[in-house]
Amino acid sequence: MKKIISLLLLLTFVSGVHAQKSNKKVMRKLIDENIDFAVEQYKFLSKNVPANRAPKSYDAKTNKIITSDMSWWCSGFYPGTLWYLYENTRDNQIKREAEKRLGDLEKEKYNTSDHDLGFKMFCSFGNAFRITHNPQYKDVIFKSAASLATRYRPIIKSIQSWNSNDELKCPVIIDNMMNLELLEWSTLMGADKKFKEIAINHAGSTLTNHYRPDGSSFHVLDYDLSTGKIFRKLTWQGAADSSAWARGQAWGLYGFVTMYRFEKNEKYLNQAKKSASFILNHPNLPADKIPYWDFNAPGIPNALRDASAGAIIAAALLELSQFTRGEERQKYVSAAEKMLQSLSSIAYRAAPGTNGGFILKHSVGSLPHNSEVDVPLTYADYYFIEALTRYKKWYL
Ligand code: GLY
Repeated sequence: MKKIISLLLLLTFVSGVHAQKSNKKVMRKLIDENIDFAVEQYKFLSKNVPANRAPKSYDAKTNKIITSDMSWWCSGFYPGTLWYLYENTRDNQIKREAEKRLGDLEKEKYNTSDHDLGFKMFCSFGNAFRITHNPQYKDVIFKSAASLATRYRPIIKSIQSWNSNDELKCPVIIDNMMNLELLEWSTLMGADKKFKEIAINHAGSTLTNHYRPDGSSFHVLDYDLSTGKIFRKLTWQGAADSSAWARGQAWGLYGFVTMYRFEKNEKYLNQAKKSASFILNHPNLPADKIPYWDFNAPGIPNALRDASAGAIIAAALLELSQFTRGEERQKYVSAAEKMLQSLSSIAYRAAPGTNGGFILKHSVGSLPHNSEVDVPLTYADYYFIEALTRYKKWYL
């Protein structure tokens, strides 16, 4: 009897190892194919982006690329994606294009008009420095961190996201968690210690004030800067104030995983796990694991998907998996694999030479404003390529 049990255990082990090997083979093929495809698409895209402009989206009706000036919050994603592609391929044409676009972007290090400096300057210059170690890039990052720090409001221990407008006095949005890496990294690399303190304070306020008991996050909190109290918790891009806007959940998850990487404080890891659990166990998460634009979108199952949220979540889950073990790790890796497989399918990924050169289709910028609805977006591409690169680095 003992012999039979030992034999069964051995067979289970051998078949497990075999399954792991063949899964690796499948993922290696998928990643290599995606990177080759992305390089060709981005070479095609690069031809249609004028100097001093950043690609934003693509209008299929007119077959035209939509671009922005460099102050738009997304202007760092295109160079950032190029750096990831260069890291994967060492293709010098891609590197030259990345360097050229950094030159256009650099002046944004002084832009203090909103909180988006992390998105703009760390996805771009952060990757450039990581890959090249060029000290000039570090200097740009430090200056950007100093600019972002000017938006810190001590009374609410948070960075103000947008300037006040007719409706909001001091808005702080969950997306702002994504700008903390710029601050943490700068202090770690020798810049002012206060940048790290600001990041920790901001993350703490977000944990206390943005999250609901079910692990989901509000989008916007409007603060009263004279008392520090919260006027209102609301949405800007979601379906309702009480709903779970999908990309907001993705930003929160990614942001707290990143904070855990720097601080190793369990409270960040716990929030990341709660966010992951909210997303992965949500009854409205479709079988292909690419979320609807809002977990409570009207019209589900006929609501639009947001490929950008899927890509951000995949990249975040992969890093979260690095901080966990055993079955828990496997749960996050398997979910990320499924997301990457879905995004690589014809349901989301463009055919070669189409989509204006963007990699993914079907993202949603802001549905309530009827802006960038069901279109390609640079950040969907960026986090997709980041997730593929992370998978390759950590699991192949
Ligand atoms: N503000 C970033 C976003 O739309 O997700």
